[in-house]
Amino acid sequence: MRYAIIRRVSPALADCELTFMGRSPIDFARADQQHRRIGQWLESHGVTLITLPPDPKLPDSTFTEDIAIVLDEMAIITNPGAPSRRNETIPVAEILAHFRPLHFIKPPGTIEGGDVVRIGRSIYVGLGSRTNAEGIRQLSSITQPDGYEVIPIPLRHALHLKTCATWLGDQTWLVNPDWLQIPLPGNYRLLNVPAAEPWAANTLLLDGKVHLPAAHPQTARMLRNSGYQVATIAMDELQKAEAGLTCLSIIFEA
Ligand code: GLY
Repeated sequence: MRYAIIRRVSPALADCELTFMGRSPIDFARADQQHRRIGQWLESHGVTLITLPPDPKLPDSTFTEDIAIVLDEMAIITNPGAPSRRNETIPVAEILAHFRPLHFIKPPGTIEGGDVVRIGRSIYVGLGSRTNAEGIRQLSSITQPDGYEVIPIPLRHALHLKTCATWLGDQTWLVNPDWLQIPLPGNYRLLNVPAAEPWAANTLLLDGKVHLPAAHPQTARMLRNSGYQVATIAMDELQKAEAGLTCLSIIFEA
């Protein structure tokens, strides 16, 4: 079965962390409605939702992706780089303990799941404002016995690696190269987001279709013209909190 851990939008979302984006007013009811529709969209793909309640003390807690890295063999509970997010780990760890052996990233290591892209046995990890070198070292030491190679990717101006690079399958990444300090290593095809849509590289590949926010129509068109099946999702209210589509769930098989 395929599961997704999601968490209802905190009524304190307007007090969220913002790193590379200015603050603008957030309509909680609209953000909550968009989040519920995203849950329905996941269910329409046969995903079973595990839904945590909202927490008014944890503004960013709807961004569950950052809290765990789930591999076939284990789940790694992160230590978020944003101190305000560290108490988000407890209920997510309680859920994942039913599905996988748990490992934990410990201080001074920090890592957030939005920085992690796994392709086969390669784990690409953004090194930036939320994930540090010690967090990457711990991830490498936890996963190496199972044959994983961890590859750090220094970032600039991107909250997470998945803000500026996501995997489209078929040996291809969608990237905003301006927000990567180095070209992505490996023999891959790179598709660049249009210059007018620098935030558009965060996409979620589900059932062979690339999903991205409706706010990025040029990117959607470019992907369709490149032969991809594409679907767009309204999440502009959530994007004011520096959210990407991938941030909103932890998807895994069990
Ligand atoms: N507002 C999303 C984050 O900073 O984690």
